[in-house]
Amino acid sequence: MRRLPALLFSALSTLFFVQCTTEAPQASGPIRSNTIDVAVDTSVREALFVDPHSYSTAEAKVVALDWDAEVDFSQEIIRATAHWTLAELHADTVVFDSKALDIKEVRVDGKVANFTLSTPDDLLGSALTIAAGAQAKVISIDYQTTSGAEALQWYPRELTEGKRQPFLFTQSQAILARTWVPCQDRSGVRFTYTAKVKVPKETLALMSASNPSSKNETGVYEFSMPQPIPSYLLALGVGDLEFIPIGERSGVYAEPEMVRNAAFEFSRTEDMITQAEELYGPYYWGRYDMLVLPPSFPFGGMENPRLTFLTPTVVVGDRSLVSLIAHELAHSWSGNLVTNATWNDFWINEGFTVYFEMRIMERLYGADYADMLEALSYDDLVKGVAEMMENDPEATRMKQDLAGRNPDDGVNVIAYDKGFHFLKLCENTLGRERWDAFLKSYFEEYKFKTMVTEVFLRELATEMTDEEWNSIGVVEWVYAKGLPTNCPLPISNRFVMVDEAVKMMLSVAPEAKDVKSFVYVDQAQTIRWSTHEWLRYIRGLEAGGATVEHYALADANYGFSGSRNPEIIAAWFSAVLRTEFDGHDPDIFKSTVNIFLTSVGRRKFIVPMYQSMLEGDEDRQNWAKKIYMDARSSYHPLAQQTLDAVFAQNM
Ligand code: BES
Ligand code: ZN
Repeated sequence: MRRLPALLFSALSTLFFVQCTTEAPQASGPIRSNTIDVAVDTSVREALFVDPHSYSTAEAKVVALDWDAEVDFSQEIIRATAHWTLAELHADTVVFDSKALDIKEVRVDGKVANFTLSTPDDLLGSALTIAAGAQAKVISIDYQTTSGAEALQWYPRELTEGKRQPFLFTQSQAILARTWVPCQDRSGVRFTYTAKVKVPKETLALMSASNPSSKNETGVYEFSMPQPIPSYLLALGVGDLEFIPIGERSGVYAEPEMVRNAAFEFSRTEDMITQAEELYGPYYWGRYDMLVLPPSFPFGGMENPRLTFLTPTVVVGDRSLVSLIAHELAHSWSGNLVTNATWNDFWINEGFTVYFEMRIMERLYGADYADMLEALSYDDLVKGVAEMMENDPEATRMKQDLAGRNPDDGVNVIAYDKGFHFLKLCENTLGRERWDAFLKSYFEEYKFKTMVTEVFLRELATEMTDEEWNSIGVVEWVYAKGLPTNCPLPISNRFVMVDEAVKMMLSVAPEAKDVKSFVYVDQAQTIRWSTHEWLRYIRGLEAGGATVEHYALADANYGFSGSRNPEIIAAWFSAVLRTEFDGHDPDIFKSTVNIFLTSVGRRKFIVPMYQSMLEGDEDRQNWAKKIYMDARSSYHPLAQQTLDAVFAQNM
């Protein structure tokens, strides 16, 4: 059925070429005149058996979880029993991942059993090994979480919007599920789940599963996720939450103070689902709801199935940041349905999702709008690749080798933006019609399965002619370092004027401090600019080497320092904090930065801001250290880890 050999001869010779010239990990022995099938075989076997980030083994897999838990806010622990049903055929020994868990007792089909915990590894935690026997059906594990649970953030009542109840939320991706549930923590193992969770009566519990829409009298909630998911999609959120429906199958949960604004912001969610289905096939998860988390959530969003977790920093009032919803929704196909086999294939999740996000945005808001998003992605990509080629060139390959490293290291422009531009090039080469048909059948054929990069390439090879394959340089894109020269360059009409405005600003002589004498872009135009135009403008100033005077002029004209849009605040301060600019009024400037950095914990915002401060003079550096000392404990463990490393590097 597959027209492979001729094509793959050339593909593999390219692969060989790439391997030789870029020191890609060498296969043992000479590369024979075999085909990508060999690469497929090897990679599939590796992915299925030796995921470098899990102790669990493919010989004894779980298929279902029944989780019985109690959330104790006063002690900040979860006490639980995980009942794991094993696949029908399995080896004698069953291995789970666990990290910082206090394991109390293990039972095999109800009988108390021995278990061992290996010496904890900083990254992977401990292997929990049980000699269950080949006949074993259900393994029950009684345990409680500890203060070392990196997936959990216990958010104090005083810091919430309503200040009535504390908040708890999980973040399992990539390998942190094991810090709150002993599990086979690899994306190659999927399971269905049910759960019963007891929480304080004044709070509501939600999971990545069927969810309640309001609090009940008992504080006990039941959940079910009938579609098989990998462990990194296990999720729990508990807080003083209310629900507002948006459409037939979508709605939003948030604190009462926030929920109306959130429902307004995300009002087009239902349209997004419809458009996504028209593009790439049915939405398989039933409902699509969203949960707005406290501002310390370290990400923009997390695609927990049936219940996307979101930062409140997208609720800005003008719906300008909803491409994030398109992104998390798109993961319902790329990622949640067709899942990266290991974190080495992370681009399979994120590159496809960025691509899909752009297509949804184009359908809802038009090509001009999507073009802006694509152009911003391109800017990020070029800047990111340049930096990485200096510091860690290996990391610029799409197919990664993260053995022994934190999968978090792979969360960068390569998986997202290089992945996106590669898929965009595929689209350009095949034409939309063929490409869309291919993607649609890809999602259908591999739904609820894992995907290894090489398997995707085999599918792609089947679709493409030799000429198409070679003109793209598929193998180079995926396995080589850097950014290929045939990377598509997004052109944005709406940015033409922005770039003009940047030029105009930069042409003002540095000593021209008189704002009134400065010819700035007509406000009748800029009034219509969206967040994206302003981001391009700020980045343009930065890239063009704006001086303190330019920043002062820009600020006087457009009021960036006083913006209420976190995306703009972060871009602006990341740019100016690197310089000596300290605002129209240095006290206000200082307190704005202080307030932002102590109240927001989204990594994408705060990391560049701190980095810029650390690049500044001694005052700036000391200031950064002072804020971090105050703010650290309110950040999520993941943000703490990242920033600890940033500060360690700059000491
Ligand atoms: N799944 C990711 C977040 C993630 C990745 C968490 C890896 C932990 C490990 C999510 O879908 C994502 O990509 N979020 C982005 C959103 C953006 C690209 C629109 C974010 O949080 O910035
Ligand atoms: Zn994503």
